Amino acid sequence: MKTAEKPQLAPVPLLDLRKQYGLFKKEVGQAIERVLESQHFILGEEVQAFEKRAAEYCGVRHAVGCASGSDALFLALLASGIRLGDEVVTVPFTFFATAGAIVHAGATPVFVDIEPGTFNMDAGQLAAVLARRPKVRAILPVHLYGGCADMDAIVELARSRGISVIEDAAQAIGAEYKGRRAGGLAELGCFSFFPSKNLGAFGDGGMVTTNDDGLAEKLRSLRVHGSKKKYYYDAVGVNSRLDSLQAAILRVKIEYLDGWTEGRRRNAAHYTRKLDELGAPVTVPEAAPYQTRHIFNQYTLRAPRRDELRQALTAQEIGTEVYYPLPLHLQKCFASLGYRAGDFPESERASREVLSLPIYPELSPSELDRVAGAIAEFYQG
Ligand SMILES: Cc1ncc(COP(=O)(O)O)c(C=O)c1O
Repeated sequence: MKTAEKPQLAPVPLLDLRKQYGLFKKEVGQAIERVLESQHFILGEEVQAFEKRAAEYCGVRHAVGCASGSDALFLALLASGIRLGDEVVTVPFTFFATAGAIVHAGATPVFVDIEPGTFNMDAGQLAAVLARRPKVRAILPVHLYGGCADMDAIVELARSRGISVIEDAAQAIGAEYKGRRAGGLAELGCFSFFPSKNLGAFGDGGMVTTNDDGLAEKLRSLRVHGSKKKYYYDAVGVNSRLDSLQAAILRVKIEYLDGWTEGRRRNAAHYTRKLDELGAPVTVPEAAPYQTRHIFNQYTLRAPRRDELRQALTAQEIGTEVYYPLPLHLQKCFASLGYRAGDFPESERASREVLSLPIYPELSPSELDRVAGAIAEFYQG
């Protein structure tokens, strides 16, 4: 007698960029062709046109393209005058580049813990840190997973101290805080166009936004070694430019961004509804009332027995990721900062509990149901 075999289900990868490529393939092809015909590959008209559109999209006066999100952070720190011996406050529960850029700028990262609900900087703890650290010159909150940090509270604390705030909005293009877009909520905003971001290039790319004309001028100079006039240098900058090809591609893709974001938000609502219906004992993402538009670069659960759940999903070819498994204060390269396990309990707990699910806009309702069903089944088993 034949045994009943489980039907073979199609894999659900964490992200499949091929699913969106068909949508703009022709337009991007034409844009690339236009750049190739011009044989102009560095900055130039394409970059200027993209910067103008991106600034408008983020609701700011200026956008300055650069080579990556990591460079955007570094350039923003340099432009705001951070130098050797300064301290910059950020969170330990973020991608490495946030703190890496602080070190590259010659400063020391000082960590404050996250709030458990949003995974973002805890403004209450920030106040306490600022009160005892006179060398802090800037605050670098992160809008993790595509939801904004509590910026009013953070900016108010910075103003009272006379220091700058730089948003790490690498994961948050188009995210809104009380109706205002990420990148325009402080002095400077930093974005990444890494391919997995909601607005991804065909390689690396980044951007800094600001409403301050003086800072914009500094950024434009710092990304070309610190020169305003060719071969004359007012500051020591770096080589960090957005390629014309990437700008031409991003000019096409930015027009699709709101549609993709709506798709991600729809998928997030679908997961939340389905996981609740199925009674899965996970904690779904919670948006604080001030996060008026979460863009779900990631849809991140807190899951009991997270690693076992992940293994079970992998066995069913469902892609997941842990952003991030070890908080920065416990990374080997930051040992000299003197932090210990237990210093930031919420960041440490998050790194043990979080699991990000596939959330890209092209996922079908049945794929979402399959992922939610597999999660519920794991806990019933
Ligand atoms: C929060 C955060 N900051 C900074 C970066 C750095 O961006 P990039 O990879 O473009 O250098 C990223 C990208 O992964 C990020 O997620």
